Amino acid sequence: MCGIVGYIGNGNVYKILINGLKRLEYRGYDSAGMALVAPDGKLSVYKAKGKVSNLEDYCSDKSLDACAGIAHTRWATHGEPSDNNAHPHYSEDGRLALVHNGTIENYKLLRDALQQHGCHFKTETDTEVLVQLIEYIRTTNACSLVDAVREALNQVIGAYAIAVVERDNPDTIIAARKSSPLVVGIGNDEMFLGSDGTPFVEYTDKVVYVNDNEIAVIRRGEPLKIITLDNREAKVDVKKLALSIAQLEKGGYPHFMLKEIFEQPSTLTDCIRGRVVDNGYSVRLNGVFDHQDKFLNCNRMIIVACGTSWHASLLGKQLIQDMCGIPVEVEYASEFRYSNPVITPRDIVIAVSQSGETADTLAAIQIARQKGAFVYGISNVVGASIPRETHSGTYIHVGPEIGVASTKAFTGQVTVFTLLALSIAQLKGSMDQETISKVAGYLLRIPELVKETLRLDDKIRQLSLIYTYARNFLYLGRGYSYPVALEGALKLKEISYIHAEGYPAAEMKHGPIALIDSEMPTVIIAPKDHLYEKIVSNVQQVKSRGGSIIAIVTKGDTVIRDLADHVLEVPDVPECLTPLITSIPLQLLSYYIAINKGKNVDMPRNLAKSVTVE
Ligand code: G6P
Repeated sequence: MCGIVGYIGNGNVYKILINGLKRLEYRGYDSAGMALVAPDGKLSVYKAKGKVSNLEDYCSDKSLDACAGIAHTRWATHGEPSDNNAHPHYSEDGRLALVHNGTIENYKLLRDALQQHGCHFKTETDTEVLVQLIEYIRTTNACSLVDAVREALNQVIGAYAIAVVERDNPDTIIAARKSSPLVVGIGNDEMFLGSDGTPFVEYTDKVVYVNDNEIAVIRRGEPLKIITLDNREAKVDVKKLALSIAQLEKGGYPHFMLKEIFEQPSTLTDCIRGRVVDNGYSVRLNGVFDHQDKFLNCNRMIIVACGTSWHASLLGKQLIQDMCGIPVEVEYASEFRYSNPVITPRDIVIAVSQSGETADTLAAIQIARQKGAFVYGISNVVGASIPRETHSGTYIHVGPEIGVASTKAFTGQVTVFTLLALSIAQLKGSMDQETISKVAGYLLRIPELVKETLRLDDKIRQLSLIYTYARNFLYLGRGYSYPVALEGALKLKEISYIHAEGYPAAEMKHGPIALIDSEMPTVIIAPKDHLYEKIVSNVQQVKSRGGSIIAIVTKGDTVIRDLADHVLEVPDVPECLTPLITSIPLQLLSYYIAINKGKNVDMPRNLAKSVTVE
């Protein structure tokens, strides 16, 4: 979703901003733009609908001399994707330009008031209201830019990360945040801005994460200054950026998604490293051990998440219930936040988010905290908002995930849930030590078994050719394989735009069975587990209605092999670890089908990687 880049220094402003925008492309967007401030005080705004490359084409004959600038990728919310609605937006007299992520909820009220004062608007966007308001305050109060921004933000209700530049003030960028991510990069005589650290990773690893209700005052030749909305100076807390340029490249793969699928043996190793200890005898998550009393006295857990993270959470629920005997509920964060949830101080709320920035999940955390719950986060992006807003938590440590369709983050989240359940079980004594060590020992082997599963690549590529033009898919699974079915179906629809439904296999007879015919392929996830016999009969039900079946089975399976049209055999693992293996062929299947259809797998239409608005 929308991305912000900014730069002030002696480097090539235009190039730094364009490259920064390209780095943020993975977040999802539909137009891009930038504002350049020239040393002589000229302020130019260039914008283009579509890709950053369109903006580059547009800029090819423009004056690009600049000493500071801000840039933006926009994911449309208020007003269609167009050149006009793209950011930055000018204020009425062309003196200010502003980029904005988020939504201004009271924009209509502010707009009406500004119109009464004679302001004219060129767009329907909430962002233009903000820039006009800043200009209005700056002019009527004859105050500094930073005071005008502060005053304006005090009138705003909503979520924002903003950056503002001014025509006659080429040595200053003012930026601020509330609920949308914003990071300042500190270089040698130069400073950067980003929605995350990716736009400037090659220039500096010194970063300052701007907090909610803070304003960053970025001035050439001066140290970074942070003030709060109530005009107090805040501490500038410089952190080390945990990111490398190599992690942001495709490393010889044609797409990030394929790279990320194939990275899983090593990302899972990183995720497990240091967490299975004593030669595989026990499991230790510091986030749990440091808050033992909370976990020992917990009555109930509620997991909040969105998208793929929600699917991983369904698996987390099964793992925690099976291993720890604690009741667990899983909620969509977007529903939870408006459901007036009943939460007690003995509840633990677990927030799961790859990006650590999803607006609904962030809001759910805030509600849980207000109601007195202990909040635990499971995130990937180090230093993102969610890990900073939670009481404790665990990073999945799978490295930057660039492909919009989540793959390695899903398996990382499921791995962390397994470690979490084992840690709590160990603390509570809800599982005997021998079983804990057995599962932990298998977990250590998972990276190698994922590698073995990835050898299905060629077979799946061939198989994908048969199903490329199917219009609908059904994915079925039971128990631990049910969330895998949901995730498999989501992967396919996200990147191939084929309608796909994930269903608990036994529920099929209450509806989806009516859809089955020779044109509707069914993917059945049927490893050898305690529900295996049950799912065999579901396979027969599909078969007897003429449906074609792709089955994911455990190596050596003979029963489903005879019933299914195609089988993909995966290594045998304990039931609670099957999702880490069975999800791999589904990732590859969706990838190849989308590729056969010529789709942009890394940046599917309309989707965003980091969903920072409601
Ligand atoms: C978007 C992404 C999904 C992701 C979901 C939740 O929809 O495209 O891949 O699962 O957001 O994101 P989060 O960062 O909170 O896991």
